Amino acid sequence: MEFLYTKYRPKNFSEVIGQESIVKILKQQLETDNIFNCMIFSGVSGTGKTTVARIFANELNNHIGFPIEIDAASNNSVDNVRQIVASASERSVHCKYKVYIIDEAHMLSIQAWNAFLKTVEEPPKYTIFIFCTTEPHKIPETIQNRCMTFYFTRVASSLIEQKLDFICRSENETGRNITNWNNSINYISRICDGEVRKAISMLETCLHYSNDMSIENILLALGNISYSYYCDIIDNILDGNINKVNSIIDILYNQGINLKRFVDLFLDFCLDVLKYILSNDIQTTKFPIHLENSIKKIANFDKSDKYYLYFIDKLLELKNMIKVDNNEKITIEVVFSQMCRFI
Ligand SMILES: Nc1ncnc2c1ncn2[C@@H]1O[C@H](COP(=O)(O)OP(=O)(O)OP(=O)(O)O)[C@@H](O)[C@H]1O
Ligand SMILES: [Mg+2]
Repeated sequence: MEFLYTKYRPKNFSEVIGQESIVKILKQQLETDNIFNCMIFSGVSGTGKTTVARIFANELNNHIGFPIEIDAASNNSVDNVRQIVASASERSVHCKYKVYIIDEAHMLSIQAWNAFLKTVEEPPKYTIFIFCTTEPHKIPETIQNRCMTFYFTRVASSLIEQKLDFICRSENETGRNITNWNNSINYISRICDGEVRKAISMLETCLHYSNDMSIENILLALGNISYSYYCDIIDNILDGNINKVNSIIDILYNQGINLKRFVDLFLDFCLDVLKYILSNDIQTTKFPIHLENSIKKIANFDKSDKYYLYFIDKLLELKNMIKVDNNEKITIEVVFSQMCRFI
């Protein structure tokens, strides 16, 4: 089975979302036929490094042949690099350029990089190296200084939302029957941390659960805790109702939810409510937009920003306390009780 993110991998520059300046520079190189021989594509996972490297290689060779892709994680020895360097000095028979895409480049050993150094310094004219990495600081400076580095950034949620919309429509055109995706893809595009692959994978997980992409289904499919629990907890903290707060924690515990993860998610929730209080704009948060009225109810009261700052402080403290705690439930109950008493 082909993953959706593979199926919808851009085949040309116009399909790439975000990364505008990188695409512009690469296109300019192609137009002027002034090609950098050694480049580093660095940045966040799933934002287009391998995709753009492949498109660039394809354009360089007028859509003839394929680049040579090497996974540095499993070819990280000096011998591997010596082989690459030896073959890099021979010109390609079929294509103008020989393009090497070295993925996970940060996994190469220091000795392996040293074997690369000479070639990177004086590369054969028709050989191109593109080193892709999520951890550019692990690449020796001697190499970095001799390469042109591009930084792939997180992609704006609005662009990711459009891409997910395009995928849903395209899937429906091929006979699928996806419904109710508008609010859900808006939500996914804001919780994916600007990582396009992550967003498409989340969409795929949801579609495995149901073609009905209602928010309720999305939360279930992604294993997220329903927001109504968080709102209930806040309501009861504000009412000083310790028993009710603890009974909600009990419910989550009995559902098998990892309570350390719950604390992380609840902290994230409180931070988002604070963002909402300060901006009055649901789009600055990760909340599904149809929840705006429920969020308003727990956000709009006197000095709410001070309360949420206090909650965030307590939850950060709690997060540290339970890091190495095997009996975190009790600690969590104690801290939540303190939060109720403070009000
Ligand atoms: N900028 C983008 N525009 C359009 N689609 C993208 C973009 N970035 C990622 N994708 C989608 O995510 C998938 C993975 O992207 P890609 O392999 O290029 O990521 P990467 O940056 O190389 O990640 P990693 O660091 O994990 O190797 C692509 O197949 C594509 O569907
Ligand atoms: Mg990659």
